[in-house]
Amino acid sequence: MAPPRRPFLAASLALLCTACTMAPPLASVAGANVPITTCRSFCGNITVDYPFALRPGCGHAGLRDLLFCINGALMLHLPSGSYRVLDVDYAYRGLTLHEPAMSDCRALDRAPAGRGNGFVLEPWREPYLSPDPDNAFLLLGCRATSPLFQGFPDRHLPCRNVSGMGCGDYLGCPAWDDFYSGGGSRRRPSGDAAYGAAVQGQPPECCAVPWSAIRAVNVSRLECEGYSSAYSLAPVRAEGGAAGWAYGIRVAWTLPESNRGFCGACRATGGACGHDMESQADLCLCGDWNSTSNCDSSADAERSGAAPCPVAAPRWAVLASGLMMSLWWYAWR
Ligand SMILES: *[C@@H]1O[C@H](CO)[C@@H](O)[C@H](O)[C@H]1NC(C)=O
Ligand SMILES: *[C@@H]1O[C@H](CO)[C@@H](O)[C@H](O)[C@H]1NC(C)=O
Ligand SMILES: *[C@@H]1O[C@H](CO)[C@@H](O)[C@H](O)[C@H]1NC(C)=O
Ligand SMILES: *[C@@H]1O[C@H](CO)[C@@H](O)[C@H](O)[C@H]1NC(C)=O
Repeated sequence: MAPPRRPFLAASLALLCTACTMAPPLASVAGANVPITTCRSFCGNITVDYPFALRPGCGHAGLRDLLFCINGALMLHLPSGSYRVLDVDYAYRGLTLHEPAMSDCRALDRAPAGRGNGFVLEPWREPYLSPDPDNAFLLLGCRATSPLFQGFPDRHLPCRNVSGMGCGDYLGCPAWDDFYSGGGSRRRPSGDAAYGAAVQGQPPECCAVPWSAIRAVNVSRLECEGYSSAYSLAPVRAEGGAAGWAYGIRVAWTLPESNRGFCGACRATGGACGHDMESQADLCLCGDWNSTSNCDSSADAERSGAAPCPVAAPRWAVLASGLMMSLWWYAWR
């Protein structure tokens, strides 16, 4: 048996490891060329792109596990329920959501235990996503004991006009015709009474608030029977009162300032912006490797996995194993 067998084995292992720790494959040194479809996709006719994504690891971590494409419909999932996404406005950073169990100007959707999802976010998501300041939530049929009316009837109610939208106009909608003609005793309020002041010791039938006033629209916890939501895309002012409002929930997203530079550099070097699925930190996806900065920087290349070499640099692995086999062959001779 050839005596130098063990030294040869050691040498070949050393070579393999050298191949692993050497500079990454040439492609990533010179910047990546990741296909645009790595993270961008379509759902129906809506483009889903950064900071949103339909694939794990793509998009910003603050907006992860949020959008899903179900039978060609883009859906947004929150603790309060699922919403249909009608539009993603990348220029103005706004999403338009619709929920079927929401009242509008044509029809009321109410039930004693509450109807509709409302809008409740996970606390960790709040820095990144929230309803637009110009979005009015109209809470309907809330009981006097509702947290919305804390201290009722002595306390000042939080109800008010939001971007010119309030209950005075909303109660004029056809949706309320049956409600105010059926009972006989009910009078359609007007003026101050409509947008929030108590009438004869009764809480208002409708209370409009901006998101900032409550920060969670949980219809059952607020002891309401339903809700509506309308938004105005300033500076366009709706004509014809509440019949001309846009019904739905307008949501805005915000990313940390540092993300802009990170993502710009990542894209400029041919990468796709994403995030680490464990640490949630920004990650630049460079094809066969990931970087915490961009695809030109090999120094901080993040090679994930316990055995990074064969995964990240298959070509080097093949080369090294070929070398190793020939060394074995020499060792046996
Ligand atoms: C998508 O298609 C629907 C009709 O199918 C249309 O109403 C809507 O405006 C379209 N949205 C976009 C963003 O093109
Ligand atoms: C890079 O990161 C993405 C998203 O976190 C992950 O899916 C992928 O497996 C990673 N690639 C490598 C080579 O580690
Ligand atoms: C809404 O409030 C109800 C009653 O307090 C609670 O059981 C439920 O978990 C809340 N829903 C969300 C999404 O927070
Ligand atoms: C709310 O808006 C209505 C309709 O534009 C207006 O008549 C009313 O005075 C407003 N109320 C307040 C308190 O601003």
